[in-house]
Amino acid sequence: MENESETRGPRRIFTRRVVIVLVAWAVLTTLGSWRHQRRWIDEAASDSWVGIDAALQVMVLPAWLGARTVGNGYGVANSLAWAIGVNSIGFGALAVAYLVAHAGVRGLLIPKSRVGDSIDPSRRRLLLGAAPDAIAAVSGCGLLYATVVEPNWIRVTRTDVPIEGLSPSHDGLRMLQISDTHRGPRISASFIAEAVRLGIAQKPDLILLTGDYVHMGVEFIEEGAALLAPLVRIAPTVGVLGNHDWYAGAHRVRHTLTNYGVRMIDNDRCFLTDQCRLDADAGTLCIAGVGDLLEDHVDFDRALSGVDRSMPRLLMSHNPDAAELPELRSHRVDLMLSGHTHGGQVRLPLIGAPGVPSRYGQKYAQGLVDGPACRVHISAGVGMSVAPFRFGVRPEINLLTLRST
Ligand SMILES: [Fe+2]
Repeated sequence: MENESETRGPRRIFTRRVVIVLVAWAVLTTLGSWRHQRRWIDEAASDSWVGIDAALQVMVLPAWLGARTVGNGYGVANSLAWAIGVNSIGFGALAVAYLVAHAGVRGLLIPKSRVGDSIDPSRRRLLLGAAPDAIAAVSGCGLLYATVVEPNWIRVTRTDVPIEGLSPSHDGLRMLQISDTHRGPRISASFIAEAVRLGIAQKPDLILLTGDYVHMGVEFIEEGAALLAPLVRIAPTVGVLGNHDWYAGAHRVRHTLTNYGVRMIDNDRCFLTDQCRLDADAGTLCIAGVGDLLEDHVDFDRALSGVDRSMPRLLMSHNPDAAELPELRSHRVDLMLSGHTHGGQVRLPLIGAPGVPSRYGQKYAQGLVDGPACRVHISAGVGMSVAPFRFGVRPEINLLTLRST
């Protein structure tokens, strides 16, 4: 009798848990599908929901990746039917995993009481039975931090860069690098505006924009460019395109940014005069740029040939992997400025950044690194792509101060 009541109690608790999980699954599936409809299909989601929408999407990310594989790529994001299917399956898988973990802990890890047991079985059951709840709680906190807190916690990095043969009037030149703003459903206009305000507060002499102004979608081009316009009013601003600008429409992104006063220099160059003005032909610091490595072509010769060898040169390339191209070794470059890798978006203790989109592993994740031909500064960027989370890689803008050597 005693044994029977001992098993009936846990069974009743497990049944109650199944009901709670089923209700949670239904609520999350409905919420996730509704939020997807608002953000990705209607494009009418307010900025204040951006973190919650990201958390809901990340929870079912494996299901979205599966949907992209069996569906028509990124196009599945435009369908409510796909969203409902993905959310049902994604949250369903989480619910099943949670219940299996509970059942497993009870069935496999909690032994039946034995004569002479020193630990009260009900106490042991309580302690071990709490393990799946504890794991779910810690995972939930981590998820909220990575989707709601860190992606909105922008910082300014400050780096001094020694340059040989720098004009005395450029000694101490303050350059602001802003990269990968990714205006789109995942990155709000208000967050980019905050990054721009923070950049202006650094009082830069020169501003360098290293691509990915728009995440995807032609409808974000105008706003993605307009958000950067206040920069042009305070300092000369130069830019190159990134791979996501090509996905949105490279010609239109270039044209819109040019209309706002950004000098676009993909496979081209300009010069900074001693009076800190941009000039097409003459100056004392060459600012060159190349096209995106993935979606355009990289032409170092067009960008750099004919420039006086004694003149210091900056080279802007959205993708830092361009630093490894052997053709670069025949040109003088003092500093290359890149973005693209977003620092891998996740950086873990001991492991580092396991997911850097580069052929060279973590080498070009972020910061100032030595390439085979020149030093490369890689910004971890303002926005995100692939998945809307950051962990250990805060969004950043970068202040680089040139020092004469
Ligand atoms: Fe990017």
